[in-house]
Formats: sequence, structure tokens, C-alpha cells
Amino acid sequence: MDCKMEKSKIQMLYDACNYVFSQEELPNFQQIQWLKNILNTFKAVDVGIDEFRLDGSPGSGEVMNSNGLISGQGVSEITYIHIYECDQFSMGIFCFPAGRTFPLHDHPGMTFTSKPTIGFVGRLVAPEQMSSSMHHVNHRSLFPRSGGNIHSFTALTPCAILDVLSPPYSDDLGRPSTYFLDFPIPSLPGYAWLEEREVKLPCDLVVKGAPYLGPPLDVPDDDLC
Ligand SMILES: [Fe+2]
Repeated sequence: MDCKMEKSKIQMLYDACNYVFSQEELPNFQQIQWLKNILNTFKAVDVGIDEFRLDGSPGSGEVMNSNGLISGQGVSEITYIHIYECDQFSMGIFCFPAGRTFPLHDHPGMTFTSKPTIGFVGRLVAPEQMSSSMHHVNHRSLFPRSGGNIHSFTALTPCAILDVLSPPYSDDLGRPSTYFLDFPIPSLPGYAWLEEREVKLPCDLVVKGAPYLGPPLDVPDDDLC
């Protein structure tokens, strides 16, 4: 039997996440580095997204190209492509049209969040502070070292980010996604009051869904959810 097919990057990432996040203890530095190294090799086509172009033409609204790939360039709203989720971790992709902002939000109780850009690297709005550890793209990030880790990001050009969270958001398990409003304090430049938004999904945030069209993921049957 010829089983020499090369493993896809998304399979490598799944296998690594499955190993690292299924263990009892928190991942160690080497394991995080291992995940980061895999994450940083991703290109758009590795997750079924057409290459982004340099011309930056506005999204056509057509989510799928004739070649059977998601048109990263074509999305006109923030678009989430779900890949996989289990109790330990989740994997998905956010595609951003140019100029769209993902509002201030947090990651309660999560030990790993990773967002490498797989479109134009480094083309998100420059941060006021960089997050201390796991966030790989340029975010606006507040209190990253004090447990708050509240941040937003704005895409300057069309791009996609590969979103790996461990453990995933879960309302039932006390890890809801919460969004915030910030009110700058004029007398304290650089500081702002934060107010928790009561709505689950802010009305200024539109997130559409699109199917995952990348290489198929081989997971145990009882892992599917
Ligand atoms: Fe985030």
C-alpha cells in the first residue's frame, strides 16, 4: 500500500494541537514554539483560500472562486471559516476585507491563542502595545500582561488570520466571548475606560460564514463535533 502522501499543513497543525492540548499539564515553551513554527508556515492556499493580490481591489462579495477556493480578496464582510473544534481547542480562519475592524474582545481562561496572518503578513494596524506572548499579529492590545488581554485589530489590506484557541470559547464552561467599548480619557492620554457590551454580538460586527475548502482533515470519528 502506498501511503507516502505528504501530510497537509492543516493536518500537521491538528496533530500537533491534539498532542499538546490533550495533555494534563499546560504546554511548555518548546511545545508552544513547535506550534508557532507550524503556524508560521501557513499560506492562504494551505487552508483553501485563493492568494491575495496586491492591487487591493474591493471585495466583490463572491465568496468562492471558479477554481473552488475561497476568494480571500472577494469577501466584503469579516468571514469565519470553521475548520475544527473539540473540548480542547478550536481552529478556524477569519478573512478580512480591507479596513474592517474586529472590535475589542477578550479570551477568558484561554491558555493559548494564536493569530498569524496568512494573507499579507504584517499589514494590520500597528499596535499600541504588543501582546506579551501568543498573539502573532499586530493587535491593539490592552493590559496584555495583567490577565486582561483585551484587544482589537483592523485589517489595512485584505488578509486572513488562522485562529487557534485553547480551550475554545464556551458559554457553558464560563468562557464566553465578551466585547467592550472603550472611552478615551482626555486627561490621561493613552488610557481609556472599558465598558462591557451587553449584546452577544455587537451590531457593528458582521461575521459571515464560509465553508472550509482546504485539504481534508483526518480526525478520529469520536472527535467530530
Ligand atoms: Fe483575539
